[in-house]
Amino acid sequence: MNNLAQFYTHDNFSKLLLSKILAKNPKRVLEIGVGGGSLVRAAKKKWKHSDIIGGDIDSMNVSTLKEEFPSIKLFVINGLSSHLREDLKLELGSVDVAICNPPYMTIKKSDEYGKILEESLLGCLDSYSQLTSDIIFLAQNLLLLKEGGELGIIVPDGLLTCQRFSIFREKLLSNYKLTGVIELPSKIFKKTEAKTHILIIRKSVCSSLSLPIYLANENGTIASKILVKKSALIYRMDYKYHSWKKNSNQKTSNSLLDLNVDIMRGSRSKKQLESLQINYLHTTDLKNEYCECEFPLHKTIDYLRYAEEGDLLMSRVGKRCIGKLMYVIKGNIPISDCIYRIRIPFEHRAKVISSLNSKIGKEWINAHSHGVCAKVISKRDLLNYQVTY
Ligand SMILES: C[S@@+](CC[C@H](N)C(=O)[O-])C[C@H]1O[C@@H](n2cnc3c(N)ncnc32)[C@H](O)[C@@H]1O
Repeated sequence: MNNLAQFYTHDNFSKLLLSKILAKNPKRVLEIGVGGGSLVRAAKKKWKHSDIIGGDIDSMNVSTLKEEFPSIKLFVINGLSSHLREDLKLELGSVDVAICNPPYMTIKKSDEYGKILEESLLGCLDSYSQLTSDIIFLAQNLLLLKEGGELGIIVPDGLLTCQRFSIFREKLLSNYKLTGVIELPSKIFKKTEAKTHILIIRKSVCSSLSLPIYLANENGTIASKILVKKSALIYRMDYKYHSWKKNSNQKTSNSLLDLNVDIMRGSRSKKQLESLQINYLHTTDLKNEYCECEFPLHKTIDYLRYAEEGDLLMSRVGKRCIGKLMYVIKGNIPISDCIYRIRIPFEHRAKVISSLNSKIGKEWINAHSHGVCAKVISKRDLLNYQVTY
């Protein structure tokens, strides 16, 4: 990734984002992080008479766009700064529409960010285990919007799917009106496979009990829509998960947790295992189809985690290998931290393996894996897997 996360929105998706904003003739439209100008260009087409204000930290972006659009007020700014409003020459609560595709970067917590989060009603700094630039950009936009104003913003998958950001989802849903979430296809940005979604947010309180979640196709048009209960969106906000949930009406028995299944990942990375010059298993050793393997009985090293006879292994992280399964018939072997060792009590073993290896199990894994580039399946989700029969 370049260090300013300069991945620009394709025009089809800029048009899609703007199509979900209802304002007819907004007086003032804002974009923080204008980049190559795809969103600004779409805004200029849609709202010919609006006052458009924008900024970017990269002065080259600002000067190139100034040449194309002399009428737009463009500034070199830092979207993460608490002085943003002064730098953009705007009052808080003065913008009718904000559009944004922010940089996605982990940032160090600071009092300045804490203040921005609290003022924008997105929670306090301590409630976030990790802070990212997209959250602060979103908060800044909310602060600059007037009551009833609308924000369309492209956010990374993790913000809508990871447990560590459930505080963000909870605060957003209780203090703002989320009018739509659109899941975008992967690979829509050059040089990254980042999985992203559009959030459309109105600065007002929401009384609706259900919200529309959409799926967009590669052309930037809506392919499908489902209505999801607002309360279910704190857990996850993505279309993939909720459409799977709606369609899965399987008879279920117990969760892996109920069945006393123990799940651990390897204790060392592939690189660390490589440096020990020993035999080990990594996701690349797991085949696309479920397989059963025998290994010699290796002398064990204390700090490594071994797969042993009777263990089921699953690739837990990767771009295309999530959920691949291997059963260990005999012997032992160290596993990398990209693999889960699933230790199932003997009496439930056959049932759990055939459930995870079934079409339903694979669909479940697909629906529960998440991540911006590489996908990951969390241990918490896997323990909640309901064994179908
Ligand atoms: C993901 S790109 C999106 C650009 C454009 N909005 C689009 O949709 O194509 C993020 C943009 O934010 C800018 N940026 C990165 N860090 C920034 C910061 N701290 N303040 C303002 N802009 C920043 C980058 O230069 C880049 O143009």
